[in-house]
Amino acid sequence: MRYFFAIWIFSIVAVVSILGFRGDKSTRNPIYVFPDMDWQAKYLPQGQNEFFADGRNDRPVIPGTAGRGYGWDIKEVFSPDYTDPVSLNPTLYSGKDADGQWHRGFPIEVTDEVMHLGQQKFTIFCAVCHGAGGDGNGITKQFGMAATPTYHDDRIRGMAEGEIFNTITHGKNLMGAYGMKLRPEERWAVIAYVRALQLSHQVSIEDVPEQFKPELGL
Ligand code: HEC
Repeated sequence: MRYFFAIWIFSIVAVVSILGFRGDKSTRNPIYVFPDMDWQAKYLPQGQNEFFADGRNDRPVIPGTAGRGYGWDIKEVFSPDYTDPVSLNPTLYSGKDADGQWHRGFPIEVTDEVMHLGQQKFTIFCAVCHGAGGDGNGITKQFGMAATPTYHDDRIRGMAEGEIFNTITHGKNLMGAYGMKLRPEERWAVIAYVRALQLSHQVSIEDVPEQFKPELGL
């Protein structure tokens, strides 16, 4: 046991004297166990190289190219009458009306195709938590996510479509954001499907079309 302690203390002293304390300043080169990508073959700004005939690392702009992106006035880059899609239909992208209120209704036409798209995307992205019927009984509940609400309470029934759009885009508390995964049109399609689910839980027998009644044994 005594030997063990002696060797142990000796190894600590050896390691500290060779490697030093964490945060110590040293003029020697650090020991790189994993160099990762610290040394890459690359040209630094304003440097020289032998590859290009003029030896400059910074390459001149190719004639006829138009810069895009941050710091550019979009009207200068494109023609003066250019209008970006967001300013053409802000509600579609923000879920808000011109006066800043959550939009009620849909900024797109809700067709059969849109409903199917909504159903498809809902099944992929939302049903795991909210459940196929929107009652908050998705598979994640079994793993402890009990906070997922049902769509079939009055609060979410009464919520403006634009606010639901905002929840999908940015997420809310435990719910992640889906703005990067669903295009705005797809988000509205999902909302249309959510509305259909809500309707399906509150329908009265008079709303069932005659031709489907026999199927339901009525
Ligand atoms: C990871 C699980 C999860 C997924 C996936 C998920 N949600 Fe949610 N959702 C939640 C939880 C948890 C809440 C409750 C958030 C809160 O109020 O704290 C919630 C809340 C909501 C609400 C109510 C928002 C409010 O303001 O009260 C709506 C509407 C909703 N989700 C729609 C969707 C739609 C549509 C999708 C698919 C695009 C989706 N959710 C995907 C977990 C999820």
